[in-house]
Amino acid sequence: MKKIVVAIDGFSSGGKSTMAKDLARDVGYTYIDSGAMYRAVALYAMRNGWITENDIDIEALKKNIGSLKIDFKTNEHGVSETYLNGENVEKEIRTLEVANAASRVSALDFVRRELVRQQQQMGLQKGIVMDGRDIGTVVFPEAELKIFLTASPEIRAQRRMEEMLARGEKVDFQKVLANIKERDERDLHRSESPLKKAPDAIVIDNSNLTRDEQRELLKTLFYQKTLE
Ligand code: DC
Repeated sequence: MKKIVVAIDGFSSGGKSTMAKDLARDVGYTYIDSGAMYRAVALYAMRNGWITENDIDIEALKKNIGSLKIDFKTNEHGVSETYLNGENVEKEIRTLEVANAASRVSALDFVRRELVRQQQQMGLQKGIVMDGRDIGTVVFPEAELKIFLTASPEIRAQRRMEEMLARGEKVDFQKVLANIKERDERDLHRSESPLKKAPDAIVIDNSNLTRDEQRELLKTLFYQKTLE
């Protein structure tokens, strides 16, 4: 069976990572969370004081972006975790503050250029499932299977809120919803690689799909492509 690249794009909190992780596990592929890489860059900028409410120190970030090392390691429970210069930052990059900063740094052309380069490197051997915003359009325009995942903002806010509650964080539904809408706007309208469906992507609206239904659907699509 030939090895392929699976690209999963869509809005934030749409369930891309659940879909991508389930598929990777089912078919024995490596899962790569490209959003975690933007979050790691944001965390790095925050820690250095280069990103404040109204400002980003572009020059400092530009000078240092090439020396950032972001990678993924699987922990003892088989879960992939994000490392920034050798430090496990998986938990720290999942806060709302880092999500907001990530949304801002991901609009910078030199950040995207560097991360896209690293992502393409990770896919050279194929056998990967990568999720993000520009995977099917920019990172792997030749990916054999492309999915564009959608769901209503309310359903996504509900899911994000449940995830945060499960981690013990205090959250307010309206705040989470407003944050999701704000990030949708930025993802859709930024000049650098805005979120858009690749012409050959398969659109899946998972508002009313269970995780198992989604999982079966993806497996079917995957085997269709690998047997073609
Ligand atoms: O999927 P996520 O919420 O972890 O992504 C974090 C931020 O990074 C989000 O604002 C969108 C951005 N992003 C991007 O611009 N391109 C990607 N391939 C992945 C994420």
